[in-house]
Amino acid sequence: MKNLPSHVAIIMDGNGRWANQQNKDRLFGHKQGAKVVREITEYAREIGIKALTLYAFSEQNWNRPQMEVKGLMNLLKEYLTSEKNTILNNNIRFSCIGNLGKLPKIIQESIVFLTNLSKNNDGMDLCLALSYGGKEEIIDAVKKISEDCMSGKIRPEKINNELFDSYLYTKNLPPPDLLIRTSGERRISNFLLWQLAYTEFYFIDVPWPQFSKEHFLMAIESFEKRERRFGLISTQLKEI
Ligand code: FPP
Repeated sequence: MKNLPSHVAIIMDGNGRWANQQNKDRLFGHKQGAKVVREITEYAREIGIKALTLYAFSEQNWNRPQMEVKGLMNLLKEYLTSEKNTILNNNIRFSCIGNLGKLPKIIQESIVFLTNLSKNNDGMDLCLALSYGGKEEIIDAVKKISEDCMSGKIRPEKINNELFDSYLYTKNLPPPDLLIRTSGERRISNFLLWQLAYTEFYFIDVPWPQFSKEHFLMAIESFEKRERRFGLISTQLKEI
């Protein structure tokens, strides 16, 4: 494949609606969604994607009914155990972004364990956004930068895009080239607000539990046809 996106981010939307359509509870949708996470992760690795970031639980999702939050946390706990071999066998480096301190202790420990265990892998980065909010990430960065300014570690005039990047949760990842959102909604929902500045968007009506390798490939093919200008004009790109 030519012009493959290096970093793909996905808003995995539609689990609840998909489940309700079949008179099942929302957790049934999340369980099916977790299976799709495995399938798409393996496929992305297979076709040579270098980084995959998945929006698995937002800062705002804490306000869902407690039954659903609990169910999602259990699913996450299971996932972190059951996916260990998939991650290691596929040479994947695992990481998480978000306000991880809010997660149950046992999940925090599993994250640290899997992150350390896979830290030298270099086949693909798999990053889960958990308890994540884009605005919250930016505020956190601003707080840390302010502290470092006050302690004299950095001077305010040194603040630029690169420095700001280095204060974000995503400091070890390049910005996404392609963002996919399933289930027909066309919004960002507080995901990677800073990092999506020049990302190509791909929206698909299919709910996440029905999202397949074929759909993923359609998104990649759509990306490959696009011209990314980064604020320049077409002829300038040919000169680079
Ligand atoms: C959005 O669907 C999905 C979520 C809030 C959770 C995403 C979780 C998974 C895909 C499964 C668990 C993930 C891992 C990594 C184990 P929604 O519930 O907002 O659906 P709706 O818009 O139809 O209500």
